[in-house]
Amino acid sequence: MILEVDNMNTFYGTSHILFDVSLQVSRGELVCLLGRNGAGKTTTMRSIMGLTPPKTGAVKFYGENVTGMPPYAIAQKGMGYVPDNRLIFPDLTVRENLRIGIKKSEHFNGEPWTIEKIFEIFPKLKILEKHFGGYLSGGEQQMLTIGRTLMGNPDLIILDEPVEGLAPLVVKDFAERLLKLKEIGVTILFSEQNVKFSLSIADRAYVIDKGRIRYHGTIEELRKNEDVKRNYLMI
Ligand SMILES: Nc1ncnc2c1ncn2[C@@H]1O[C@H](COP(=O)(O)OP(=O)(O)OP(=O)(O)O)[C@@H](O)[C@H]1O
Ligand SMILES: [Mg+2]
Repeated sequence: MILEVDNMNTFYGTSHILFDVSLQVSRGELVCLLGRNGAGKTTTMRSIMGLTPPKTGAVKFYGENVTGMPPYAIAQKGMGYVPDNRLIFPDLTVRENLRIGIKKSEHFNGEPWTIEKIFEIFPKLKILEKHFGGYLSGGEQQMLTIGRTLMGNPDLIILDEPVEGLAPLVVKDFAERLLKLKEIGVTILFSEQNVKFSLSIADRAYVIDKGRIRYHGTIEELRKNEDVKRNYLMI
């Protein structure tokens, strides 16, 4: 087990947002956290990364309890977080943005990522390598933030709504990029509202609603579960 979240309760001030959230991700898996607007997806990811630490419960990475550690320390352990705001450096080129992502990572023992390897997964970035970040489209920026995160050699990448606001054709391409990452062994946890996209690529799903995990299981089981889809996903 690479990531294990046990009964996490998270608050913003006095507002109780997450209720006993538990989830697990094994090495090599592509796992999605599905939920509507305001369901608690971002809060779950921020809690895991230590940005909004849970009040109770535990986050374990490779069995080590990392709850309460500062976000930079959690990142150094090997969790790469791609928030939903695609924060790239607009005045740096694509290549420079990627170079900035180089970091050491505690558990990583594969071949370290290089910019050329990133270009193999995201060929579009190679074409744009000398372009300034600020001129990229939404989809290109998303690829760049993921590429930059991979440059830190994480063992697990956590993506918050990676395809939100992207055009259908871009989403389709994105699905292929993520599958390629999975194929080469990258472990991925992502959140989404886009059910079609998520079901087309994930191995397993968690469904969150009002801060509680309402369902977890395989994609095939979720496809057949009309109640869960109707009640929590509006499809
Ligand atoms: N900084 C904050 N202070 C107080 N409440 C917050 C804060 N951020 C989020 N919330 C509340 O926490 C709940 C969960 O929000 P969260 O952003 O985790 O949901 P989400 O699933 O990521 O939604 P979205 O799809 O809109 O990104 C919502 O009710 C939201 O209003
Ligand atoms: Mg969110």
